[in-house]
Amino acid sequence: MLTPQPTAGDTAWFVHDRFGMFIHWGLYALPARHEWLLTTEKLDPAAYAARYLPRFNPTRYDPRAWARTARAAGMRYAILTAKHHEGFCLWDTAFSDYKATNTPYGQDLVAPFVEAFRAEGLKVGLYYSLLDWSHPDFTIDNHHPLRDHPDAARLNQGRSMPRYAEYMRNQVRELLTRFAPDILWCDFSYPDVSYNGLPGKGRADWESEQLYALIRELSPRIILNNRLDLPAGRADVYTPEQVQPTEWMRVEGEPVVWEACQTFSGSWGYSRDEESWKSPEQLIMLLINTVAIGGNLLMNVGPTALGDFDPRARDALQVYRDWMQQHGEAIYGCTQSQFPAPQDCRLTQKGNKVYVHIFAWPFKVLHLPGLGGRVAYARFLHDGSEVPITSTAWEMQHLTVTPDTQRLFLPIKKPNVVTPVIELTLHGYEAASVDRSS
Ligand code: GLC
Repeated sequence: MLTPQPTAGDTAWFVHDRFGMFIHWGLYALPARHEWLLTTEKLDPAAYAARYLPRFNPTRYDPRAWARTARAAGMRYAILTAKHHEGFCLWDTAFSDYKATNTPYGQDLVAPFVEAFRAEGLKVGLYYSLLDWSHPDFTIDNHHPLRDHPDAARLNQGRSMPRYAEYMRNQVRELLTRFAPDILWCDFSYPDVSYNGLPGKGRADWESEQLYALIRELSPRIILNNRLDLPAGRADVYTPEQVQPTEWMRVEGEPVVWEACQTFSGSWGYSRDEESWKSPEQLIMLLINTVAIGGNLLMNVGPTALGDFDPRARDALQVYRDWMQQHGEAIYGCTQSQFPAPQDCRLTQKGNKVYVHIFAWPFKVLHLPGLGGRVAYARFLHDGSEVPITSTAWEMQHLTVTPDTQRLFLPIKKPNVVTPVIELTLHGYEAASVDRSS
């Protein structure tokens, strides 16, 4: 079993809970075509703010409903974008007028989020964008909406990244002292790119060392992600996104705590017309594939401009709810198994319990390499029914089996669940405490 070296942040609860909700919400929900539209469509930030700030009024915002939905889906923590790249602040910051309290809605959106999700028993995190395409001191670079402005270089002369870095420290201080989040999810650094002579941005631009010192001074045990462009060892969690890793993430050769973040569709922010919504099988496989190699999964919802989870997101969350209600113990407190996975399966493990997640239903027999003689009992998690580990059926005589392979004898028909899971109880282990965190 791989065990990452401890880091400053408290990741014990994190690697147990395994499954979280990402929430990307901001003014971009109004145009409803991706959270990067300000830059992909090269809109003028001032015109964008003038168009959408006076129209943001999420009258249906009900974070308690969001929290209940997240918990029911099996999620045990949630991370909300307090500020995304557009620069609009969801909380009542003292350092900008570009904020939720200056919209028709007129209220802080972060405080009720934190209160509601904690009341539902979930840990809370805040996402804070290092990029801010609306801030007057944020210099125009390769990602900026004004990157092709004929006077981009001249406009940059009046901008000051040191002043912007101080702005970020002031806002991060607000977020940590006002809301005491369990996770701070900063996004993102790009030091090695340039565009028409406009450089990218990394630790020097963010003044990451000062920001890191502030974070650790205010919240010593907070979980901090890896996007401040700081040397290895400063991050508590590494964050691959929109890809499925196939092995435990390593940094400088060492296993690390890691979390894959993914979207239900092709967009983080609400995108009305985007159609690449993942199937139920893909959603469940993402979760299993991630935990089976020791990672967490952070699945993203982009609420609408009215504060709703749109029906497609609700349907996807229902898929997780249906599966996690029956199979959560194969995820919570689990990690990569010490045993090799059978064909078309993934394994997760928790002490003397090994969970066989079956992606493709085999014909009659499932062969478990390396588990021969180790299995005391096997059962399906969806209905608790026993799965035979021995058979006298005549046709089994045609199977040659090596001594270290355990066979499970399955029904012909796949059970009616997206991904069936068989729990193996092994001989000779301390009985693992069964996880009741349903
Ligand atoms: C990518 C997206 C950004 C999103 C982030 C989440 O960087 O561009 O919009 O917030 O992923 O990890």
